[in-house]
Amino acid sequence: MASGHVLEARIGVSEFPVFIGPGLIGRMGELWTPRADGGAALVVHDEAVGGIADRVAEGLREAGQRVETVPVASGESSKSLSEVERLTRVAARARIRRRDAVVAVGGGVLGDLAGFLAASYQRGIGLVHVPTTLLAMVDSAIGGKTGVDLPEGKNYVGAIWQPRLVVMDTETLESLPQRQLSCGFAEVVKYGLLESPELFERIDAWPDPLPGPREELIDLIRDCVLHKLRVVSEDEFETGLRASLNLGHTVGHGIEAAGGYDRYQHGEAISLGLLAALRIAERMTGLDPVWRARTRAVLARHRLPVTLDPTLSTEAILDAMGRDKKADAGALNMVLIGAPGDIRLRQNPPMEMVVQAIEELHP
Ligand SMILES: NC(=O)c1ccc[n+]([C@@H]2O[C@H](COP(=O)([O-])OP(=O)(O)OC[C@H]3O[C@@H](n4cnc5c(N)ncnc54)[C@H](O)[C@@H]3O)[C@@H](O)[C@H]2O)c1
Ligand SMILES: [Zn+2]
Repeated sequence: MASGHVLEARIGVSEFPVFIGPGLIGRMGELWTPRADGGAALVVHDEAVGGIADRVAEGLREAGQRVETVPVASGESSKSLSEVERLTRVAARARIRRRDAVVAVGGGVLGDLAGFLAASYQRGIGLVHVPTTLLAMVDSAIGGKTGVDLPEGKNYVGAIWQPRLVVMDTETLESLPQRQLSCGFAEVVKYGLLESPELFERIDAWPDPLPGPREELIDLIRDCVLHKLRVVSEDEFETGLRASLNLGHTVGHGIEAAGGYDRYQHGEAISLGLLAALRIAERMTGLDPVWRARTRAVLARHRLPVTLDPTLSTEAILDAMGRDKKADAGALNMVLIGAPGDIRLRQNPPMEMVVQAIEELHP
């Protein structure tokens, strides 16, 4: 490849390639053909990326596949059981069979929904992820978590289902709004803190505006994907290490929920959650405060919030954290670091420290 990378993922019994680079959509047929069992593909796409999905479909057709495309409305509300029912019936009418595949083209919403369709339709068929947001590339397209929301809670119905191929075409990010790029970048900062001081340094020096220089971006996405692949291949079903990927998410989820999933986008809530986690780490692991100061500066530079909306009370956030499904059996699981790359999983940090960390987010 002129520019880009191919990673060989191994998670449990699944092995699949992850391509990262510019212009990959134009090579879709060539990339999928060696892995295709059957003769048909259902291209499920976010309505915002219809042009990209058409090019994906065209490539697959040229490679001899029978292709049907189906658009899905943009937004989290599409992650519903009623949408799963609609799509499974579309698949059935399109005569999609066990040996065929679902090709998911869109961000994390579309990937989670279409991934769950692939996991459950006829007890599971092939899946190809074509993520089109920065967040989906560095996070949701890797690891196999798929699913939909219930009114009672986010991601309450789902399955772990690994794809057979992941194609990350960095040119698809050109149409992504700045706010969405920033949200993905919050997860990138998380990887820097989890991986190493070296990765954090590169992220800290990242130029504004996002997405930044093409070649460096491809390498940055690769390094985030490598981190997640390493963690997930060690712990596919989240019995231990995989929980570390929740750095910033304990308080972050609380802020996201307390804001009614409307005040803050996920990545924005994670920006605040990371700062809270680092504050708690300063007290529990002796993390040098310089890391929080630098994290705050890099998040702010990329237009992520670093102070909390004063209308969100600490009580409301704590209450939402308690309701989070990851707070299993009454325990509050926190991911902390002693330094970038030095991960410490802790249960039930002293509540007084959590409260203080949230209070200090207020301007
Ligand atoms: N499965 C996992 O492991 C995992 C991990 C993290 C997040 N998630 C899930 O991911 C979802 C969030 O994903 P997201 O941040 O990608 O949001 P998203 O899928 O809603 O995409 C964000 C917005 O960008 C639009 N869009 C997508 N690609 C575009 C493009 N190339 N150009 C222009 N617009 C484009 C979408 O229509 C949407 O409005 C949540 O539902 C979350 O639960 C899953
Ligand atoms: Zn996240």
